[in-house]
Amino acid sequence: MNKFVNMYDLIYCISNTGDLISNEVTNHHKKVAYMAFRIAEAAGLTKQQQREVFLAGLLHDIGAFSSAERLELLDKETPVVHRHAFIGASILEVFEPLKNAAEIIRYHHMPWDNGRGELFEGKSVPLSSHILHLADRIAGQIDPGRGVIGQVNSISSRIKGKAGSVFAPDLVEAYLDISTRDYVWLDTTFEALMMIMPNMMSFDTLELTIDQVVDLAKVFAHIIDFRSPFTAKHSSGVAAVAERLAGMMGFSENERKTMLIAGYLHDLGKLAIGQEILEKPGKLDADEFNIMKSHSYYTYRTLQAIRGFETINLWASLHHERLNGKGYPFRYKAEDIPLGSRIMAAADVFAAITEDRPYRQGMTRDSVLKVLSGLVENESLSPLVCSVISENFEELNHCREKAQAAAATEYQKIGKLPYPVLKQA
Ligand SMILES: [Fe+2]
Ligand SMILES: [Fe+2]
Ligand SMILES: [Fe+2]
Repeated sequence: MNKFVNMYDLIYCISNTGDLISNEVTNHHKKVAYMAFRIAEAAGLTKQQQREVFLAGLLHDIGAFSSAERLELLDKETPVVHRHAFIGASILEVFEPLKNAAEIIRYHHMPWDNGRGELFEGKSVPLSSHILHLADRIAGQIDPGRGVIGQVNSISSRIKGKAGSVFAPDLVEAYLDISTRDYVWLDTTFEALMMIMPNMMSFDTLELTIDQVVDLAKVFAHIIDFRSPFTAKHSSGVAAVAERLAGMMGFSENERKTMLIAGYLHDLGKLAIGQEILEKPGKLDADEFNIMKSHSYYTYRTLQAIRGFETINLWASLHHERLNGKGYPFRYKAEDIPLGSRIMAAADVFAAITEDRPYRQGMTRDSVLKVLSGLVENESLSPLVCSVISENFEELNHCREKAQAAAATEYQKIGKLPYPVLKQA
């Protein structure tokens, strides 16, 4: 089995994208991951458990889909706080290497409740969930506008006041022990922390194969798409169509897997776009449209940081470039746009106009082919790729429908997920 990419590399680049959604949550996932890791270390957890709680920290709020929810979670624990935790966990748990992290995430707002928080409905809650909870509440209290060291005393006295009721007393002890060390706070708030994290921890244990990356990318496609019912199946459809097109055009098996990953991740940058824009009924105004357009830029800059993802990045992030040079964000001309990116661009349009959305039906074959030929005529899309689409319309459309039906089932599962409602302390 060929090792392809390091899972930590991948996840800490991607976890950052969701934090771009608003200035206030900048680096929240990383801060919590770091603080949780230090508490786990001080509490005597094993190296493996430290890595798992770190991973869980990087992804813990990924089930909170709107910017409003992200902001609210920063300093409040509302009664429905378990919703995003349960959603995040059930999206992530299908990927085996993230199973433990998902379990930690599911319970990351569980109060200690004088020991009763060790169990939930008869099942044991991982101690690491309580570590994550504590780290999350600590990180949320740091005011980024002031020097951090001057805030430590007041943060600690608030945490101490909740030992037993909200936080496990042993973990509070472990936290208080490390809280006296300046470097822990300076690290937590250090912009470049992620550059040195890999040197602090041994990250070399989780190399993924390309097949595992396909599975993980699919998990991320759900996180990207499920933020809005308008697009809940979009990336799954684009990935399936792009992969099938690549096969029809003679790409190798490995290249087809690469295309599948790129398809799942092509709209990754949408994690940085507020739901109010993603879901706005009617036309976006000029400012909103500019924000919306920035998503493919954020996809590019996020994937660029992942070693081994060079081709995936090109095929994923250039999906709004156009052969006539009028696309974005680079305004590349035809000669700068590789065939893989041209396939993605056409697959994106194809999926977008054929899929049903809550407010409209997908287009019929004739209308789709008309739209595509218009886009070939004005030199937006590749004539070669579009001719393959029109020759194989039924097969491609069937392939899209099948992939999207599977994604829809997943989406409905998330929507119906039961989750506990927090008792107000
Ligand atoms: Fe949370
Ligand atoms: Fe959080
Ligand atoms: Fe896009």
